[in-house]
Amino acid sequence: MSDEIATSIRQLKEEKDAVILAHYYVDGKVQEIADYVGDSYYLAELAAKVPQSVIIFCGVSFMGESAKILNPGKRVVMADRYADCPMAHMVDLERIREVRREHPDAAVVCYVNSTAEIKSESDVCVTSSNAVKIVRKLPNKKIFFIPDNNLGRYVAKQLPEKQFIFHDGFCHVHKSIHREEVLKAKEVHPEALVLAHPECTEDVLELADFIGSTSQIIDYATNSDDKVFLICTEMGIFYELLMKNPDKKFYSVGHRQFCPNMKRIHLESVLTALQSLEPEVELEEELRKKAERPLQKMLELAK
Ligand code: 13P
Ligand code: SF4
Repeated sequence: MSDEIATSIRQLKEEKDAVILAHYYVDGKVQEIADYVGDSYYLAELAAKVPQSVIIFCGVSFMGESAKILNPGKRVVMADRYADCPMAHMVDLERIREVRREHPDAAVVCYVNSTAEIKSESDVCVTSSNAVKIVRKLPNKKIFFIPDNNLGRYVAKQLPEKQFIFHDGFCHVHKSIHREEVLKAKEVHPEALVLAHPECTEDVLELADFIGSTSQIIDYATNSDDKVFLICTEMGIFYELLMKNPDKKFYSVGHRQFCPNMKRIHLESVLTALQSLEPEVELEEELRKKAERPLQKMLELAK
C-alpha cells in the first residue's frame, strides 16, 4: 500500500511542479519520499532556492510560514493543516513591546520556532544551528531572547559578554527528557556519547558531549569515530542517523521523545496535499514583509 502511495506522490509531484521538503522529525517514510530533508535553517534557506512553483512542507506551521515569507511567489502547502509547534505561541506581542519600552537598547532575538506575527516585531531570527553565531555578531549588548528559555540560556552561556533577558517558552518534547534518564542510560551504555539538542533543559545539556541542531547532531555522529550514542532529541532523527551510520548504535533516553505535531504527517497526508494543493500558507503582504526582514537578516548573518 505505501509503495502505491509513494508512486502516486512521485507522479503528482512532476505533474504539479512541486517539491517536497521535510524536517528530520517527521516519519521515516515521509523523509524517504521527500526531495530534501533538513533542520529548520536548511529548510528555510532552501525554500528560497528551489525552482518548483509549489512547496509541499512536511513539518510544523512555523516552518511553512518561513518558507512563504521568503518566497511570496510560490504556493506553500502544509502536509498537515494542524501540525503546529506549541512553543511558537508562547510569547505575545505585548511582551515584546513591554521589553522594548523598558530596554530600548535590547535586540529582540526570535527563535524561528515562532509565529509570523512575532517575527514581524523582532530584530533578527535564529535557529538552533546559528543562534550563537548570530547573537555574537549583534552590536547590542542586551538581548531579549524569545520564546525558548532553554535555547536562550544555552546561547547566553556561550556569550558571557552579553546580557540576556529570557522568556519562559519551552519545547514540551525536549523538556520531557530528564537528567535522571540520561544518567541511567549512561550506566547501561557507559561507552556512549551524549548528543543533545539545545532545547533540552540546562541540567541535561550539562551531561552532553555535543550540543547542536538536528543536522549538526547527525553530522557529529556521522563524522565521529565513536560507535555508540545517546540521543537527546525527537525520535524522527533516528531515521537519518541510521541511514548514514548503519554500523553505529543510537539509543533514546526515555519514552517521550516524540513530537505529536510532527508525527501527524504521513505519506497519506503528503498525497492529499499534492492532490488538493491545500492547505496553502497565506499571509497578508504587510505582515509578510515585516516578518521577512528578521529572516533575511538571519540568512545574512549566518553566512
Ligand atoms: P532544528 O532546527 O534543530 O531542526 O530544530 C527544530 C525543532 O523544532 C527542534 O525541536
Ligand atoms: Fe516544536 Fe518541540 Fe515539536 Fe520542535 S519538537 S516542533 S520545538 S514541539
